[in-house]
Amino acid sequence: MQFIDLQAQRARIETEINTAIQGVVESGRYVMGPEVFELEKQLGAYSEASHVISCANGTEAIALPLMAWELKPRQAVFCPSFTFVATAQVVPWLGAVPVFIDIDPVTYNMCPKSLEAAIEAIKADGQLTPSVVIAVDLFGQPANYPEIAAIARKHDLKLIADTAQGFGCTLDGKHPLHWADVATTSFFPAKPLGCYGDGGAVLTNDAALGELVESLRVYGKVTPTDAAERNFNHDPKYLSLRVGMNSRLDTIQAAVLLEKLKIFDDENDKRQTVAERYADGLKDHVLSVPKVIEGGRSVWAQYVIEHENRDGLQAHLQAAGIPSAVYYPVPIHMQDFAEHFPTAPAGLPVTEAKSKTVIALPMHPYLDEESQTRVIDAVRGFNG
Ligand SMILES: Cc1ncc(COP(=O)(O)O)c(C=O)c1O
Repeated sequence: MQFIDLQAQRARIETEINTAIQGVVESGRYVMGPEVFELEKQLGAYSEASHVISCANGTEAIALPLMAWELKPRQAVFCPSFTFVATAQVVPWLGAVPVFIDIDPVTYNMCPKSLEAAIEAIKADGQLTPSVVIAVDLFGQPANYPEIAAIARKHDLKLIADTAQGFGCTLDGKHPLHWADVATTSFFPAKPLGCYGDGGAVLTNDAALGELVESLRVYGKVTPTDAAERNFNHDPKYLSLRVGMNSRLDTIQAAVLLEKLKIFDDENDKRQTVAERYADGLKDHVLSVPKVIEGGRSVWAQYVIEHENRDGLQAHLQAAGIPSAVYYPVPIHMQDFAEHFPTAPAGLPVTEAKSKTVIALPMHPYLDEESQTRVIDAVRGFNG
């Protein structure tokens, strides 16, 4: 049994993917080929974003808007500690300071109360300037955007939705970008919408920001607005107006994603079915099964249960030939690189407690009923 079975998906659309890849190989347009722009168009239509800038990975997707906003040292960026390290690591890249926020005990997503308390504390302390909030759609479900966005607006902070795990999730039928200034995603292969390597995207409805991110993606190149405002007396193609990076999505990856996007909604429905079956089979036998925020729809990047003897359960599953994973055993604020960064004033007790009990079970759209029954029976058979 696979934890995430990418080969099962490949078997479904193998011909289409192979043809798409072959098409790019034959076209020779390996960098910024037409598939990249077509993908950006389709992702925008999918998630109601007027501007989509694909990029090299989900980490740089977060860094790009922070660079566009010219994040500086002594600026504070509020983010959860219970997430993949990438969410926080980009902040010190720019010399700014991540401030770690606790999570809601039910959804594992950023706790609005902890956020508000941290913003007030940073303001009162006076050493850092609150600037940005990064909310994460952990394990595939939307963060509490209505409350988080209201707090961000009240304190005049920008809001990024890190939807690396939750691209395609909705709350009250709306995508995270409805509330956020920017949504970012990752196309890492194991993500719900993954490619065959690294990839990412920045989505926004802010045209000026979109233009800047597009410039920063390619070494701070001249934007249409720059060209209109300044009279360059030579071809501006090789001019850099700002310090950027090379963060382009490969054309082959865009071609793969265009094929995967066609089956993405169907795959999310299938994941939902798997999640419901797991919940039915497990809800009376473990500390908790996942609960999605009211009005929310998860894309189930992970199916995470809790058990008081998590490590015992993991060993038991392994002995039964069932793969599992722990996201995340060490919260970011307890990792070496982040130990000196501030946390919310009451600390992160929920984050620290959950890191000891969570365990993710096999989850993918092609997990058949028989395999699922095996997982459920194995979890139920654990007496630890
Ligand atoms: C929540 C979150 N943010 C950011 C990233 C970074 O994405 P990437 O690996 O494409 O850089 C990931 C996953 O890897 C993630 O899970």
